[in-house]
Amino acid sequence: MKITFYGHASLGIEVDDVHILVDPFISANPNASEVDIENLKADYILVTHAHQDHIVDVEAIAKRTGAVIVSNFEIVSYYEKLGIEGHPMNHGGKWDFEFGTVKYVNAIHTSSFPDGTYGGQPGGFVIEGERKNIYIAGDTALTYDMKLIPLQTKLDLAILPIGDNFTMGVEDAILASDFIECDKVLGYHYDTFGYIEIDHEDAKRKFFEKDKDLMLLGINDFIEL
Ligand code: NI
Ligand code: MN
Repeated sequence: MKITFYGHASLGIEVDDVHILVDPFISANPNASEVDIENLKADYILVTHAHQDHIVDVEAIAKRTGAVIVSNFEIVSYYEKLGIEGHPMNHGGKWDFEFGTVKYVNAIHTSSFPDGTYGGQPGGFVIEGERKNIYIAGDTALTYDMKLIPLQTKLDLAILPIGDNFTMGVEDAILASDFIECDKVLGYHYDTFGYIEIDHEDAKRKFFEKDKDLMLLGINDFIEL
């Protein structure tokens, strides 16, 4: 499994030959100007919630690639009206896709489209691949519901928001890492706007002091599991 960071909360995940995009917000993110969205591959686009900073490039990429949207029922319905294929889910449900099993899990946040359309309840994704398991938290507060995840899934990596203000900050993400029993964390949802700027070295040090590993990737950088 290869995970590439495209800035903010945008990720590319490759499992064997399947390309998955998560929350593409690239064309409107000045920090991600080096990402060429015309050349991004996508068989699936996972959408955690409907906020602008998670969906801005969903329509264009889906129409160019024919990717299937995987999200909650309301978000999938919104894109189906635009002629885009989707796979609707809801909280607590899982489905076996060709790249692994995806479970849509709780997030504490809000979810409306930029035009005001209701975007259902926000979520995160637990992906159980053939060899590696990851949790993509989406925009969320710290929540006790996270403790449910390790009852069923041994995570190899957790992707957690750390920018504070709109989501968990660093201290809460450290507690989340305890709740989900995964000490290997890729931080996201930081620095993009003034409200969520963080001190990278301070954040890494705080994780390190708890015997945890916080990874922060540059744009287009990737990790392999
Ligand atoms: Ni949001
Ligand atoms: Mn967000």
